[in-house]
Amino acid sequence: MVFSCKVGVYVVVLLVASGMAMGATPKKAVNVPFGRNYVPTWALDHIKYFNGGNEIQLLLDKYTGTGFQSKGSYLFGQFSMHIKMVPGDSAGTVTAFYLSSQNSEHDEVDFEFLGNRSGQPYILQTNVFTGGKGDREQRIFLWFDPTKAYHSYSILWNLHQIVFFVDDIPIRVFKNSKDLGVKFPFNQPMKLYSSLWNADDWATRGGLEKTDWSKAPFVASYKGFHIDGCESSVNAKYCATRGKHWWDQKAYQDLDAYQYRRLKWVRKRFTIYNYCTDRVRFPKMAPECKRDRDA
Ligand SMILES: *[C@@H]1O[C@H](CO)[C@@H](O)[C@H](O)[C@H]1NC(C)=O
Repeated sequence: MVFSCKVGVYVVVLLVASGMAMGATPKKAVNVPFGRNYVPTWALDHIKYFNGGNEIQLLLDKYTGTGFQSKGSYLFGQFSMHIKMVPGDSAGTVTAFYLSSQNSEHDEVDFEFLGNRSGQPYILQTNVFTGGKGDREQRIFLWFDPTKAYHSYSILWNLHQIVFFVDDIPIRVFKNSKDLGVKFPFNQPMKLYSSLWNADDWATRGGLEKTDWSKAPFVASYKGFHIDGCESSVNAKYCATRGKHWWDQKAYQDLDAYQYRRLKWVRKRFTIYNYCTDRVRFPKMAPECKRDRDA
């Protein structure tokens, strides 16, 4: 009796202490309806809602695509979305999920999913813009069919690194390379955006494959609208509670050995394109490429 009582007190103290650190670990995302954190951006009639908004679909037809954005702006955090890509013949369509700032010194962190003809693999393209500079494309094939089931796509952003995850497997790391003269997003909040649109002028095999409109509408499905970020006003220069969130902790400032092994596996097996190794386009390698490693 006495013993279990003490254990009980100890547990309570621990819970209170970790609660005070403003969420020392990632929260398990419970079902959050679309409308709590997001609003449609354009073509409102091309978004369909299910289960009280816990699940939505974006529709693309020959008239328009559609998109949505977060209500809030965020400085640091982890931003994830569960997406089931356009199934069947999706060549020419692009589904995007990204973070973007609103100011002129543009920061942006992108996931772009390029559709393909039935049975042909999707391409996942990622890119990072800092201080208005982009041209940092990387492309991979996925190790699963992203149209068959929901998978999670997420971005971890803190002062040390930006990590792209697919189902908790890191597929790309963009380290803070301020010491090498590379800008890193740290003083402009970003909003989350997602959209489905037609890009058959460039997306599939460089624009060779055209969207087959007889297959429209093209449908991408979404769920998991929880956002784990430090919310700030659009013009804020810093996060008022920086250093107090789980993503600021030591464990999230770099990948661990296991995560590096996973990253290495993805890069070795699935890379299609990497701007860091494109000597034709970039005879002089971008400085941050020194850190674009997998071990
Ligand atoms: C589509 O499939 C072809 C053939 O397998 C492949 O070369 C291409 O990279 C795939 N993806 C896109 C978006 O074109």
